[in-house]
Amino acid sequence: MIARLSLAVCAGLVLLLLPITGEAQIPDEFTNLKLLDPEISKGQLVGTMRDWAGGLGVRCNHCHVGPDDLVGMDFASDEKATKRTARRMLEMARRINGELLADLPVVEEGAQHQVVSCYTCHRGRSKPPRNIVVELGAIAEADGVDGALEAYDSLREEHYGSGVYDFRPSALAQAASHLMQAGQPADALKTLEKSLEHHPDEADTHAMIGFIHLQTGDPGAALAAIERALAIDPGNRGALRAKAMIEATPPSDGG
Ligand code: HEC
Ligand code: HEC
Repeated sequence: MIARLSLAVCAGLVLLLLPITGEAQIPDEFTNLKLLDPEISKGQLVGTMRDWAGGLGVRCNHCHVGPDDLVGMDFASDEKATKRTARRMLEMARRINGELLADLPVVEEGAQHQVVSCYTCHRGRSKPPRNIVVELGAIAEADGVDGALEAYDSLREEHYGSGVYDFRPSALAQAASHLMQAGQPADALKTLEKSLEHHPDEADTHAMIGFIHLQTGDPGAALAAIERALAIDPGNRGALRAKAMIEATPPSDGG
């Protein structure tokens, strides 16, 4: 049923997307199919290929040797590493769907089962997008935290709304807490300031800024941030906890 449905979707996509000139460039006989059924029809093969290309957000020549317009394309060649990797990926997806997901315990009676496809992991990117926190961490390693925060804006500009990355404030909060664990409170604060540029009214972000100021011994700045958090959300648990901590601390020199 699922297979039939996705075939129908593929066929629809093929009709919509495949330019007639493109179809003419595709041979009627296939000579190097190692995993797909060698008896597969041309329509089904092209549907599968369109699905893969769409799942990865690439064109046919990402994996096949030849030009963008497919003229003179050598589809049978295994020269490109991406094509050889794609076979491995297909094997992986088949094993996941056929073995590992085949008889899952029933969590919800009658629930529709999902299958793993290229898109499940790749989300329309040639390599699966990493968690934004991991991505920013890798950029920070090369270009510092300032570089990573600049990259955040570019990623947001390019991908916001696509679902490829998580741009909710909680992701930058997670990055900030990694920076705190690494003993970089100034960088953690910068990260949260960046978050406020996009979500100025996120009480949790203000509360976390308050906590960091508390830890770095600046109760004045801490209180200001905590009060902003409570002005937005009077019941904010983190802010209330931080406030209680400030009130329990005997005032030191001028604080
Ligand atoms: C992500 C990599 C990838 C993309 C993108 C891709 N293909 Fe393929 N293609 C493959 C792999 C892998 C095979 C071999 C499958 C097998 O061994 O069973 C293949 C096989 C083929 C074949 C059969 C070649 C033969 O003679 O054995 C044709 C034709 C083909 N693809 C056309 C296309 C077209 C048209 C597109 C663009 C719509 C496309 N492919 C996009 C990976 C890709
Ligand atoms: C379970 C997750 C998952 C699924 C499903 C999956 N991939 Fe991948 N794919 C990955 C990961 C992870 C990498 C990156 C591996 C690396 O960095 O070396 C990758 C890398 C690739 C690459 C190499 C990209 C490059 O530029 O180096 C190709 C090509 C590819 N996948 C094709 C496919 C195709 C085609 C499908 C569907 C048939 C598919 N993948 C399904 C996880 C997946």
